[in-house]
Amino acid sequence: MAQKTLLKGRVLSFNGSPFEAEPTDATEVHEAVLIEDGRIAAMGLASNLSDTHPDAGVRDYGDHLIMAGFIDPHVHYPQTAMIASWGKRLIDWLNSYTFPEEMKFGDPDYAAEIANRYLQLTTSHGTTTMCSFCTIHPESVDAFFAAAQLRGQRVVAGKTCMDRNAPEGLRDTAQTGYDQSKALLEKWHGVDRISYAITPRFSPTSTPEQLEAMGALWAEHPDCLMQTHLSEQTDEIEWVRSLFPQARDYLDTYEQFGLLGGNGLYGHAIHLETRERDRLREVDAGLIHCPTSNTFIGSGLFDMNGLIREGHRVGLATDTGGGSSFSMLRTMAAAYEIGQLRGHPLHPSQLLWLGTVGSARALRMDDRIGNITVGMEADLVVLDLASTPAIAQREAHSDDLWEAVFPTIMMGDDRAIADVWIGGQRVSD
Ligand code: GUN
Ligand code: ZN
Repeated sequence: MAQKTLLKGRVLSFNGSPFEAEPTDATEVHEAVLIEDGRIAAMGLASNLSDTHPDAGVRDYGDHLIMAGFIDPHVHYPQTAMIASWGKRLIDWLNSYTFPEEMKFGDPDYAAEIANRYLQLTTSHGTTTMCSFCTIHPESVDAFFAAAQLRGQRVVAGKTCMDRNAPEGLRDTAQTGYDQSKALLEKWHGVDRISYAITPRFSPTSTPEQLEAMGALWAEHPDCLMQTHLSEQTDEIEWVRSLFPQARDYLDTYEQFGLLGGNGLYGHAIHLETRERDRLREVDAGLIHCPTSNTFIGSGLFDMNGLIREGHRVGLATDTGGGSSFSMLRTMAAAYEIGQLRGHPLHPSQLLWLGTVGSARALRMDDRIGNITVGMEADLVVLDLASTPAIAQREAHSDDLWEAVFPTIMMGDDRAIADVWIGGQRVSD
């Protein structure tokens, strides 16, 4: 017997990109969604679905908004315990807080404790899929995947490779980086809902030999994602220029070594040269916007409007713990604020799309997750649009759904998450 559940509420699905149509025309709101064996089986009128599926268990969420779970395509789960650490610039911040914390992940018990803490925190914020950097320790990858596997989550992660400009104890070599990444990939990629991402941290912490080895591994496994950082801060870019004097630009330090491709995810991508934008567009790479991180570390203002108009594939991410939040709502608010500073306010439908469909497209998973359409995996978040007195009093006199949801985007946090479903199962069950 198929396991069927009918969820009633305001069910939001996207029928297109709100950047290509009128933002509101790209959405549909249904009265109910039917889940069958972990997937979305139907959406429509509540009475019709109840009549045709009398055997379904019913959960009525009233006025709450039911939508795809949030997808966070650039995070560092090992930075959970040092989120919100005061600092000056990216490189000081990495050396002062990040590297000492990441050093601890050779201990499998510590790695498991933080992986579980991270997944619990993010689930309570409505995030159902993420793509995470781990540390150089294979134990950190095993811990994350094991914790996600138990929860049935679709996740992506990889061993963060670094063989220079990092402290003793946090460096591998070109060869061990390759060997350990390959072993982890073979162990985990495609197991349950798990995918492996080849993960050179960024070109300052890898020698040309290590970048070449990562490029060779990606060429052997082109279906894997490859994640790294690109052009986050101006002083970082200067450093890259001095480390790679032959390179045309920052992107070229990846391109030369086979680390540019359509399955590549480039975090931040703020200060891009025209050649870099053109090449990223030509190969149809994923650019990941991390707005709370970019303001927190003082990196700069991502050109969302220009990049989307050029046809780039853009996802929206927290970048925990350079990002100052675990919440994709807070991240959407920061994207809105950065859009305002650049003269392009994003519509609430565009913000919700970026944190679901847009991020799924960046991860090349939009055929499976990120939207409520028939056949998709049933990873859902249920939003209470009146979760605090401040939000409720604004929502109470909204004229349409978009006015009703925007206060939650701007002021909401984990209190707005009324429920979460992963793979068709209610998490709290
Ligand atoms: N660049 C290289 N490593 C990191 C990191 O851990 N966080 C951020 N924000 N940028 C990076
Ligand atoms: Zn990052």
